[in-house]
Amino acid sequence: MSLPDFKNARPVGTARDFAAWTIAHGLQRRFLRKGAAGGDLIARLATDPELIAEPYAAYEELRSQGRLVRNGFIGGTVDHEVGNAILRSEDFGTGAGLAELPAPLRRLHALAREDDTLSPVDPPSMLVVDPPQHTRYRKLVARSFTARKVGRMSDRVTGVAERLLDDLTASVRPGEPVAFDLVDRYAAQLPVAVIADLLGIPESERELVLEWGNHAAVTLDPGLSWSQFRTASAALREMHAWFAHHLERLRRDPGDDLMSQLLLDQQQSAARGEEQLTDVEVHAVGLLVLGAGFETTVNLIGNAVALLDQHPDQLRALQADPEGWPNAVEEVLRHESPVQLTMRAAMRDTEVAGERVAEGEAILVYLSAANRDPHVFDDPARFDVARPNAGENLSFSAGIHYCVGASLARLEATAGLRMLYERFPDLRVAGTPVRRGTRVLRGYAELPVVSGAELPVS
Ligand code: HEM
Repeated sequence: MSLPDFKNARPVGTARDFAAWTIAHGLQRRFLRKGAAGGDLIARLATDPELIAEPYAAYEELRSQGRLVRNGFIGGTVDHEVGNAILRSEDFGTGAGLAELPAPLRRLHALAREDDTLSPVDPPSMLVVDPPQHTRYRKLVARSFTARKVGRMSDRVTGVAERLLDDLTASVRPGEPVAFDLVDRYAAQLPVAVIADLLGIPESERELVLEWGNHAAVTLDPGLSWSQFRTASAALREMHAWFAHHLERLRRDPGDDLMSQLLLDQQQSAARGEEQLTDVEVHAVGLLVLGAGFETTVNLIGNAVALLDQHPDQLRALQADPEGWPNAVEEVLRHESPVQLTMRAAMRDTEVAGERVAEGEAILVYLSAANRDPHVFDDPARFDVARPNAGENLSFSAGIHYCVGASLARLEATAGLRMLYERFPDLRVAGTPVRRGTRVLRGYAELPVVSGAELPVS
């Protein structure tokens, strides 16, 4: 069956869209620009392209300013203990993804935003709702990610990786070098195939999903321009239209996947007269799992290949002892966190790790900087795949929003990397890697690699 043309979805640009942008991004953009011009480090970390490309020195500067730094608008912490405590505290909530704004503006934003452009950081996305709403969604999703279920996905993950690696060598004569973009041909393809399976998405639609996901990833960032917001919202609108079509298909012909299960629950609850997920909630849960399932893991795999390329001795040690891969994946997560930060707001006056925080105060938790806290990690800037406590990283967050897909991401990265280097033992980065321009998600847009070629030693 052919797909309807989702590209014709209603364009973004109405007064209502503009109001939604003004509240969620426009005001923040003005504030951030002013702060950055005045040298405020939190604002510069959000807006300065140089710091976005290389934030680690700025994180250390922030660390020297205190465990909790405030700029009058928002706070930030690079401290592992403070960050961990905030993420686990019942005194903090998500502030509906707009924790830095006063509650009346958040309510206004909820009115302005249209259901068919909702992003992963707009309620009712599970990422930005608090209990009891969060508990309800989390239960429905978590049952698909139990240790037993993820264990059962192992064969599927290795099967997909095998096929992708076969495709890479299919058109190459034996003995000839193989050159490809690691992100496009492998790091992005593996997680999208796995998550698509989990959501019952046909193979032929995966490229579309990847394209929309790449446009929408920017919505996690603060202070978008009107033009960035419009482009991302247009992609989201197409994605919502396609998802409605996908759900219709699963309603008619359910499969053994998470979305079919959610739809079945919805029908059964309706039949019993119980409270059920609304269609908007089903979209929010599904699109979050979909986006979170591939937009992050692609970065983990890409970051790992780039780091191992810079540390060939460590790669050789892993090739000699593949048992080391799970810890190496933890160290990549710690050293180059695919999700750099998150945000929480105090729901009442409280205290964390000896610091007083007033009700309504919003705090950025720099996960990637907490991962380099010298009180927890020895010589934290050093990449060391054998680091004994690499697993203490906060890259999957902590507390009730702890990444529901963490075991799956670990499985994909561990198997994906081991198999990549088994197939291409001499794989090297060749050419210029291009970083993604996103602030919250950190990874590569392009990572050219080669195997089987004589390369000058860099
Ligand atoms: C390397 C890969 C990944 C990283 C670094 C990552 C990171 C994160 C982080 C930091 C959060 C919490 C944000 C916060 O506390 O505000 C989160 C939540 C979440 N992640 Fe992941 N994630 C990854 C892979 C995945 C995968 C593979 C899936 C699904 C298959 C997934 C699904 C989710 C969902 C649904 C949530 C929301 C959980 C909640 O709010 O209770 N993630 N992830």
